[in-house]
Amino acid sequence: GCVAVLLGGSSAEREVSLDSGRNVLEALRARGIDAQPVDGIPALIEGLRERRFDRVFNILHGNKGGGEDGTLQGLLEALGVPYTGSRVLGSALAMDKIRSKQVWLALGLPTPRYARLAKGDDVQAAAHALGLPVIVKPACEGSSVGVSRVFDDAGLAGAVELASRYPGELLMEQLVVGGEYTVGILGDLALPTIRIVPAGEYYDYHAKYQAEDTQYLCPGLDDAGAEVEMRALALAAFRALGCSGWGRVDVMRDRDGNNHLLEVNTAPGMTSHSLVPKAARELGIGFEELCWRVLETSLA
Ligand code: DAL
Ligand code: MG
Repeated sequence: GCVAVLLGGSSAEREVSLDSGRNVLEALRARGIDAQPVDGIPALIEGLRERRFDRVFNILHGNKGGGEDGTLQGLLEALGVPYTGSRVLGSALAMDKIRSKQVWLALGLPTPRYARLAKGDDVQAAAHALGLPVIVKPACEGSSVGVSRVFDDAGLAGAVELASRYPGELLMEQLVVGGEYTVGILGDLALPTIRIVPAGEYYDYHAKYQAEDTQYLCPGLDDAGAEVEMRALALAAFRALGCSGWGRVDVMRDRDGNNHLLEVNTAPGMTSHSLVPKAARELGIGFEELCWRVLETSLA
């Protein structure tokens, strides 16, 4: 049968998803798999109705019109159509950074202190309670969309205004000073860590997808014990949210060597700049093989 490579959609990460999806499509076809691109959930529903697809490779990033928040997964469960990656619960929890943190905190897994911001809240009081600098984010976006670092009171209003442009709640989090890391998950395996060293100050949207001078070190930690520890933490965090199949866990490491979980991505980027492909390559798993293995997660 034919595999639908679900990409694009209408989330803020549409362009990233189109890029990821084109790469996945090419890789699956190179492996002799009959695969077709499908742009967004409405088009997928149409195609499923016409029985054009019998499996979905989900590379639709983001929430709602995206494919990462559990909505798509619920639809496909109800229809009995196999799909890659996390199921309903894992997808929904991982898309919501606030609920992710609540689960991790309940289990004693480390994550930066935070405040949930509701309309009318005293933002300055929240920031002072956490201690500046803080980071303000939409709770349910990806790729650093709508994210600001705030170092003084003057920056707060603008940061909240920017994050408010995206659907869902807002989150204010203590800014961890140290190194930024990510850990890809493939099946039951935590891939080698990647340390991200942006040329500018932050790993923002530009550094993620446009800059050619962002550095990626893999494995990210020289100390073997620290490397094992971060990989184990990432896998524990992934499982704690009920995630499965594949994904990527973002982690900050402070100057004292303590790890802090930021978030889990259940349909992580597969662009030429993306991180899971880099980590897989470190283990000798090329891009085509990676896509094949991700497709296999739809058999589970
Ligand atoms: N949200 C983007 C696609 C990522 O995590 O790679
Ligand atoms: Mg993300």
